[in-house]
Amino acid sequence: MVRRAKKALARGGKRFFEKALFAGRRLLVERNLDPARDSVIISWATYSPWLQDAEFRSCHAAIRSHTLVDVYRCWELWHLLGQVRAVPGDVLEVGTWRGGTGALLASRAGGLGLGAEIVLCDTFTGVVKTGAQDKGYRGGEHADTALPVVQELLRRLGLANVRVLQGIFPEDTGGSAADRTFRLCHIDVDAYRSAKDVLDWVWPRLATGGVVVFDDFGFASTAGIAQLVHEQERRTDLVCVQNLNGHAVFVKTAG
Ligand SMILES: C[S@@+](CC[C@H](N)C(=O)[O-])C[C@H]1O[C@@H](n2cnc3c(N)ncnc32)[C@H](O)[C@@H]1O
Repeated sequence: MVRRAKKALARGGKRFFEKALFAGRRLLVERNLDPARDSVIISWATYSPWLQDAEFRSCHAAIRSHTLVDVYRCWELWHLLGQVRAVPGDVLEVGTWRGGTGALLASRAGGLGLGAEIVLCDTFTGVVKTGAQDKGYRGGEHADTALPVVQELLRRLGLANVRVLQGIFPEDTGGSAADRTFRLCHIDVDAYRSAKDVLDWVWPRLATGGVVVFDDFGFASTAGIAQLVHEQERRTDLVCVQNLNGHAVFVKTAG
C-alpha cells in the first residue's frame, strides 16, 4: 500500500516537472530567449519558513491582493528587514504601485519596534524612463493604481509609520527625504534608468551594513535591472547576492 502510494507520488512528481519543463521551454521560445543563456528555474529546495511565521502569514494575507511580488520575494523583504534591525535608518521603497510590499515592510518595521519611517514613492501614473535596455516596457505600465489605494491599505492595517510621496523619484520627491539615512531600500521600478537613478541617490544615504534590494532581477521583461546589477556588482564597497528568486541584493560594506 505504502509502496504503491510512493510510486504514485513519484509518478505525479515526475509528471509535474515534465509539464513545468515543457511550459518553461515554450516560454523561452515565445519570448525569443537564448537557451544557451536562459532557462526557467525550477528549484527542488523545500525550506519554506513563511509557512511557520504566523505574523508574516497574516500580513501577507492582508497585502497579497495589492502586490505583484510573489510570496518568496515578500518573505525575503520581511526577513531582510529583521536582519538589518541593528543598522540605523529609515526604509525607502521606490515602486509602490498598490502598496503591497510597502505595507509589508511597514508592518514588519512596526513589529520589530524599529521606530523607522517607511518612505513609499511612486508616480502613480506608471513606469517612466524606459529605454533600449527595457525590452518589456514602453512606459506607462502599472498605472492601474492611485495614491488613495495605498492610503486605504495603510489605514486598514493601522500603519502610521509611513510617508507616501507621489511623483518621479528622485527628481520630484527625493528632496523631501534627502536628509535621511536608510537601512533598507527596495527598488521595484522595472526600468534601468529609474533603478540607476534611485541607486545613485540612495547609496550615499545608506548606512554601512544597509541593503538595497533590486526586484525584477532575472526576468526577461526587465533585463535592464540585471544589466544594472552586473555593472555595479564588482564595486569594492558592497557585497552582491544574486538571488535567483527574482531579487539581487547589495549589502553596503564600506561608507
Ligand atoms: C512593478 S510596480 C511595483 C510593484 C509593487 N512593489 C508591488 O508590491 O507590487 C512598479 C512601479 O514603479 C513605479 N515607478 C517606476 N519608476 C519610477 C520612478 N522613477 N519614480 C517613482 N515611481 C516609479 C511605477 O509607477 C509602478 O507603479
